[in-house]
Formats: sequence, structure tokens, C-alpha cells
Amino acid sequence: MQKSILILGACGQIGTELTLALRKTHGNDHVIASDIREGSESLMESGPFEILDATDYDALEEVVAYYEIEAVYLMAAMLSATAEKFPERAWNLNMTSLFNVLNLGKERKIQKIFWPSSIAVFGTNTPKTNTPQNTIMEPSTVYGISKLSGERWCSYYHHKFGVDVRSIRYPGLISWKTMPGGGTTDYAVEIYHKALSEKKYSCFLQPDTKLPMMFMDDAIRATLMIMDAEADTLKVRSSYNLAAMSFSPSQIAESIQKEIPDFTVTYEPDFRQTIADSWPSSIDDSEAHQDWGWKSEFDLERTTTEMLKHLTP
Ligand code: SER
Repeated sequence: MQKSILILGACGQIGTELTLALRKTHGNDHVIASDIREGSESLMESGPFEILDATDYDALEEVVAYYEIEAVYLMAAMLSATAEKFPERAWNLNMTSLFNVLNLGKERKIQKIFWPSSIAVFGTNTPKTNTPQNTIMEPSTVYGISKLSGERWCSYYHHKFGVDVRSIRYPGLISWKTMPGGGTTDYAVEIYHKALSEKKYSCFLQPDTKLPMMFMDDAIRATLMIMDAEADTLKVRSSYNLAAMSFSPSQIAESIQKEIPDFTVTYEPDFRQTIADSWPSSIDDSEAHQDWGWKSEFDLERTTTEMLKHLTP
């Protein structure tokens, strides 16, 4: 019998598209979506769904046994901006859910794990441009601290207990199907919605704050690629740097103005500016190229075309 896949946090920005992509390749019935709330129609109607809290080990274990789960994608997390407001809740959600899944791996109740890390693992002392895979980390945000700790635990469980856990440091992700929530890079999604609905946007970052970004199709493809790779080709068992493009708010505004010339942006930086200032502006992802053949396809221009095409009513 074909074993199944479980997605935790399936209703979020990445989870939604990941679930739909996995259902396409593995068959709807073999991809179990789960979250603490129901999600979009396309997600709910295309296959099995369970209300599940990723911090509840017993509930998780039960779902894993019931559906004969082989691989788990842990997409539930509290992102950078919200985590600054609720540090303990963020630490609890981000770490307990990871331990639960790693322990299922250690007990051999599941065979494979995907866990996302982030550019937030880097900090102000990290080289800002072309940030290498291995460098000074020192994250200064609650979210970044949880992701760096998580990376160390992934590596530990892999080397100590043979757990097959795979991970990517996602850049800011741009998508049109599901809104992001609570992140610092969310402006790069909001801006498209506002450009179309109001022809103006008030940006919470300064015009020249350049951050690493990626279109969702690339992110999903990278996720499927690393999960399909032969285990022994993956030399990095903490988390791989991953890159596609880097741009600032003024550059994304310009690319939208090529399509919507009367679109205007004002800048009112808030607390998220400090978070963005602590992150790299570009990433060196050559190890992902070498080890599992990663190559991005979407630049800013192509991303803008896709976003406006899909969001136009
Ligand atoms: N996009 C995330 C955030 O802004 C970073 O991983 O929090």
C-alpha cells in the first residue's frame, strides 16, 4: 500500500500551495492536510483534512498511525513580526512542533521530514551580501533564534539518531493564492494587492531595504526537489541557503509601475525595519546548486507579471 504524506500548517502561505502540488504528484488521497483551522476551498475540497495542533504530540502520533504517514512537512510556525510580539508563544510553537516531528522520526514512526528554516537565522554581524552557507549567524529576532536552534536540532537528530530531516532557508516568499501572515517580507505581497485595489501603498520598510526574495513556484519546486533527492547527496543537514532574487521596496514599486503607471508608494517604516536591517540582502546558494541541482526560474519582472496576472479581478 502506498504510504501517505502529512502537512502540518497546510492552510498557510506555503502549506496551501505545497499541499496542492503534492496532491498532484502523489494523488489527492495520499496527501493529508492539517492545521488548527480550515483553509481555502481548493485545499479543503481536494483531499483529506484534519484539525491538528502540531504542538500536541499524542494527537499527531494518532494521525500519523491512522493514515500510515511516511513523510511530514512541518509548515506551522509563527513568523518574524508576530514572534516579536509573542516571544514565548513563538518559541513554544516553533520548537515544540519541531521536537514532536523529530521524535516521530527518531522512533521510526515516520521516515522523512521537511522543516523550513529562513534567512532570519542570520544577524547584523553576518556578511550582508552573497551571505555564505557557513558564516557568523547571531540572529537578533525571536523567530531567527528559533530557526537557528531548530537547524541545530535537525542536524543533531540526523547525525545522532539517523533521522532523515531536510531543510531550506527560505527567502521572503511572494505568492497570490494565500496571503502570508506576520512576516517582515509580507510587504512584497501586500504591495501587489494594493497596487490593484487602491493604486497606492504605504510600505512599512524603507525604500532602499534590499532583501532576498523568491516567487512561490520556485519555493515549491525547491521543496519537492530536496525531498526527492537521494539522501546521501544532501551534505547539509542543518538547512540549505536558497536564493532567487533580491530587491528593495523601491525596486518592486518600479516594476509594478511599468504595468500600472499611476501606482504610488509612500514609506512609513515601523518596528519591522529593525528586523529587515538585521537580515542579509543577498544569499549565496551554491551548495544547493551543487548538492541537489537547485536553480531558480523567477526574477522580479517575471514575478510581477505573474502576480498581476493572477490578482487582477
Ligand atoms: N518571510 C519570513 C518573515 O518575514 C522570513 O522567513 O518572517
